Amino acid sequence: MENSQMKCLSLEQFGQPLAFKQVDIPQPGQGEVLIKVEASPINPSDLLFLAGKYATLGFVPPYIPGFEGSGLVIKSGGGQEADYLLNKRVAFFRCRGAYAQYTISNSQTCLIIDDDITFNQAASSFINPLTVVGMLETVKEAKVKTVVHSAAASALGRMMVRYFKNNGIEVINIVRRQDQVEILKKEGATIILNQNDQDFYPQLKKLTTDLNAKIFFDAIAGSFTGEILSQMPNNSTAYVYGLLSGENSSVSPTELIFRDQSVKGFSLNTWLQSITPELKRQSLEKLQKLIKTDLKSEISKEYPLQDGQQAIEYYSKNMSSGKVLIKPQY
Ligand SMILES: NC(=O)c1ccc[n+]([C@@H]2O[C@H](COP(=O)([O-])OP(=O)(O)OC[C@H]3O[C@@H](n4cnc5c(N)ncnc54)[C@H](OP(=O)(O)O)[C@@H]3O)[C@@H](O)[C@H]2O)c1
Repeated sequence: MENSQMKCLSLEQFGQPLAFKQVDIPQPGQGEVLIKVEASPINPSDLLFLAGKYATLGFVPPYIPGFEGSGLVIKSGGGQEADYLLNKRVAFFRCRGAYAQYTISNSQTCLIIDDDITFNQAASSFINPLTVVGMLETVKEAKVKTVVHSAAASALGRMMVRYFKNNGIEVINIVRRQDQVEILKKEGATIILNQNDQDFYPQLKKLTTDLNAKIFFDAIAGSFTGEILSQMPNNSTAYVYGLLSGENSSVSPTELIFRDQSVKGFSLNTWLQSITPELKRQSLEKLQKLIKTDLKSEISKEYPLQDGQQAIEYYSKNMSSGKVLIKPQY
């Protein structure tokens, strides 16, 4: 590698457009690898991060955004696992900023990808797929057979439809538009409710009662959390895992006190920290196996790095059309 500098997108101030700039190429430490980034998706978590909603987690600008992606490992910082990854094509997450020509990731958060998987296909291999795998484990542990899911036409929602169905779990999918109903039908979903239909709440209540659906995965939060929970059987749990509404979840105390409903958070990071090394290994194996089928993402558009801000704006307005990728090597 001749250059010591690379191009990147930089968040200089929360809520401000990204700057396209040149910085030093980071150097991997022990157990880490340097990756030449080929593709990185924009996820809702990136939008929250850019808006400053993750500031409480200790992120301080200037910062290179992008939490996951795919690329080629070109340098090891030392250690058996990192050395093994040298010259391998990988998907990665928890990196030091994927919206850049190069990034650093821990060798343990890299997954070698098969030769027949493109960098574009591999770019979203971690965050959504692993979250869906974790959700299924949570459902199995609770011995529940049917779950409710909001914002179900998301990339994650489409994976859930395929993966849960193939594991014998029924999903009551909630969307907000008719075109999203059609998207999910194509994925093989059998129960799809439009939250803007007049009879949405009675329909939901009947289904959750008939199917004893006691788990709700909520990507929206706000008042929706409590509104859906109020239609579910006693002793149901809402796992809030996204905040697409940008509002705090609210639930009537009556639901909590007299019907034993509960609200918990669900996060990929917390789930990964809570599981055994064996389950983690099995989950990563599932990812590798299912990334072209159950756990795949559709890609709607790709942008070169210098047009990253345009990519963010396009994605914010077209979330249901598929993943938007940033391509740092264009
Ligand atoms: N907790 C975790 O560890 C974790 C991990 C992975 C993902 N997530 C969360 O999973 C969710 C889905 O992620 P993704 O990458 O699959 O998203 P995505 O593909 O970008 O899709 C987002 C979907 O949400 C819908 N949406 C946006 N705002 C909404 C609102 N206020 N009410 C109803 N629907 C709304 C969009 O529909 P429109 O087209 O109608 O806007 C779109 O269908 C996000 O909330 C993300 O933060 C959480």
